[in-house]
Amino acid sequence: ALVSMRQLLDHAAVNGYGIPAFNVNNLEQVQAIMMAADELNAPVIMQASAGARKYAGEHFLKHLIQAAVESYPHIPVVMHQDHGQSPAVCQGAIDLGFSSVMMDGSLEADGKTIASYEYNVDVTRKVVDMAHALGVTVEGELGCLGSLETMQGDKEDGHGTDAVMTHAELLTDPEQAADFVQRTQLDALAIAIGTSHGAYKFTRKPTGDILAIGRVKEIHARLPNTHLVMHGSSSVPQDLLAKIREFGGDMGQTFGVPVEEIQEAIKHGVRKINIDTDIRLAMTAAVREFFVKNPSKFDPREFLKPARDAAKSIVRQRFQEFGCEGQA
Ligand code: G3H
Ligand code: 13P
Ligand code: NA
Ligand code: ZN
Repeated sequence: ALVSMRQLLDHAAVNGYGIPAFNVNNLEQVQAIMMAADELNAPVIMQASAGARKYAGEHFLKHLIQAAVESYPHIPVVMHQDHGQSPAVCQGAIDLGFSSVMMDGSLEADGKTIASYEYNVDVTRKVVDMAHALGVTVEGELGCLGSLETMQGDKEDGHGTDAVMTHAELLTDPEQAADFVQRTQLDALAIAIGTSHGAYKFTRKPTGDILAIGRVKEIHARLPNTHLVMHGSSSVPQDLLAKIREFGGDMGQTFGVPVEEIQEAIKHGVRKINIDTDIRLAMTAAVREFFVKNPSKFDPREFLKPARDAAKSIVRQRFQEFGCEGQA
């Protein structure tokens, strides 16, 4: 059934686990997530970015997720809008039937300019007012995602800012977080701790100076009842990078967020972990391998099936690692 995200995050908090929130754009990704969730009896958060809605079309995405709900009636499913850039965008998603929305007021509506704190409070509060009246969950974001190695913001695929920032801007402040939660009454808070979107997060396996799990602990100590969200949380498995290179891909050396660091964060209030890149890498590796090994094939089902299987396998792994098995 379609449920609100609040419901799932409350259950995760009481039972001490985290829920991966997977970005979806197409049929095979939705199927992969649902197959894995069904096998493990895990709760599902699927999220669509503005780019996803543009690629698939709003109605296709809505009905893909509704098809998932109908096909697996025993699995609770959240349909979440990722990175809404304005109250109007969130309103549009709610009208479309999303059960959860993110108002990302860390940047202004242009998606580039770092917003003032007051602006963020104002737009987030507006979305909370309209969403809560309808039982829809709201995620907000405080702090700017970006790298503590380069001190630059996260500008992936044309959205986000590549401005040079200070430590204070790149790490969510616990006191300000407490004020933000109190003034907006949001349900879940996305925090900045040195992660960024996409495959190129860290130039080495991250240590505490560039991936601030310590900051998660400080925020959780100050806000023990707030569900925390980690964006940019793909782990960028080295075996997938190796496979992509083996079968003709060109990807540089890079590191993601280690699963054990996410597991530590889950012990300290992180309940939603956003993952897009890992599914992209898994599907790309599978398709590349397929075409190298089967140069004469041309039926899309033949290359989409291994891509779907690869996506399902990484999704299964994250459900298990974050403690979702049997929690649906
Ligand atoms: O927010 C970042 C997600 O990975 C979505 O990416 O905007 O390319 O769909 P996208
Ligand atoms: P990744 O790029 O690390 O998968 O992060 C996805 C994300 O945060 C979507 O909002
Ligand atoms: Na989100
Ligand atoms: Zn994100």
